[in-house]
Amino acid sequence: MPIFIRIAERLSVRKRSEDLPILRALVAPSSTIRLLDIGGGAGTATERFSEGCGEVIVLEPNRKKLVVGRRRRPALRFHEGRGESIPFPDDYLDRAVAVVSLHHADDQAQVLREMRRVLRRSGRLVLAELPHSRVPGLFGRWIGGHMHGPSLSFLEAPELKEKVEAAGFVDVAIHPGATCYFVTATK
Ligand SMILES: C[S@@+](CC[C@H](N)C(=O)[O-])C[C@H]1O[C@@H](n2cnc3c(N)ncnc32)[C@H](O)[C@@H]1O
Repeated sequence: MPIFIRIAERLSVRKRSEDLPILRALVAPSSTIRLLDIGGGAGTATERFSEGCGEVIVLEPNRKKLVVGRRRRPALRFHEGRGESIPFPDDYLDRAVAVVSLHHADDQAQVLREMRRVLRRSGRLVLAELPHSRVPGLFGRWIGGHMHGPSLSFLEAPELKEKVEAAGFVDVAIHPGATCYFVTATK
């Protein structure tokens, strides 16, 4: 239901509100930047951390979220798809971002390889993930699985950093947040 998607996303983003300015600083928006948000849902967080980018694209597998996003956020481009197979050419983007969505991917290593492929040379990867101490309880995971997909695999920051390096990125760095941690890297 669209109203349920809107409320759930708004509440989720509100819980992470202290992290959004950090995320925005790591993204460093500018009018020349083409940004892709993988698993961006209906775009509630996307429109906040990406404001000022020249072009913002959300890649999202959930059709109901795409319908809500297209209706409410015409300034963003919404594409149906999964991070494991990003429907864009090589070297197409300046920023590739995944905000608390990588833990839902069936194959996180493949998503990272795809993010690297679509980034231009020296393009920036920005990931936001939940440390184990912030992973929702059983009920929250059940709801999350129902809303966002059945796969759930949370990594601590050092493990994710290793995965990002294994995908071929350089300058890989961990940044603390309030509820999330962030990993940035360069192609
Ligand atoms: C917890 S929500 C986060 C949404 C948004 N990024 C935010 O910060 O509010 C996770 C999102 O990842 C999407 N997702 C699940 N599996 C995915 C995959 N394999 N590739 C891309 N997105 C995926 C879900 O449909 C969901 O919209």
